[in-house]
Amino acid sequence: NFIDGNYKPLDGVNLLVTAGGTREPIDPVRYLSNKSSGKMGYAIAEVAQQMGANVTLISANSHCQVPSGVRVINVHSADQLEQQVQANFPHNRVLIMAAAVSDFKPDHVSSQKIKKDLDHDSLDLHLIKNHDVVSRVAKTKKPDQIVIGFAAETNHPVENATHKLKQKHLDLIVLNDVSNSAIGFNSDDNQVSIISDKGLIKKTNIESKSKIAKEILEILCKRLN
Ligand code: CTP
Ligand code: CA
Repeated sequence: NFIDGNYKPLDGVNLLVTAGGTREPIDPVRYLSNKSSGKMGYAIAEVAQQMGANVTLISANSHCQVPSGVRVINVHSADQLEQQVQANFPHNRVLIMAAAVSDFKPDHVSSQKIKKDLDHDSLDLHLIKNHDVVSRVAKTKKPDQIVIGFAAETNHPVENATHKLKQKHLDLIVLNDVSNSAIGFNSDDNQVSIISDKGLIKKTNIESKSKIAKEILEILCKRLN
């Protein structure tokens, strides 16, 4: 059992995890964000550390407790997260991209608080696309590096996740079917499917995020050997 501290299949492996949800500033007091709590990424960081990995966690706006022995780098926006992923990826054998990165950001951040205009009943925000962090970094992957992405899907989940895996040059993708709102975001339990270019490797039960982290990391271990 890996919890007893003797079984260390990731001994000495440098592993980078991202967790949480990015915030895209609108003005000094407002941002756009998403529902990610960071629990899945933090569980992966914790279990990987227990399995012997040297874990660096890039955390975006999560309230989770930092697991002992894990090095944490805090970021807020997608741009900050990208900068830290780029800087740290070359020193790591594995990247696990569990963070929910905003796809868009306001093209202009107002330096002053936006006032509501009494004469208008609407406000237009113009958004521009953020870089796709995991896909950019996976393009720079050395032969021994492994990149694991996540996919949040509500419809045609397996097809869409498989498409993302290939399009982004990922080794594995962890599919979260987010159409069932009882599990997933902010919940302690989840259910995922782990997919490679050869197809479905494993669909987990509905179970704790720690248990899911362990299952993902055990599949990773097989790939590292
Ligand atoms: N991702 C990323 N950079 C972004 C957006 C997403 O690195 N700007 C990563 C996520 O961390 C995740 C994977 O890409 O590992 C898939 O994210 P997801 O939101 O499911 O897919 P998208 O490619 O953004 O497509 P869409 O949201 O349109 O389904
Ligand atoms: Ca997205």
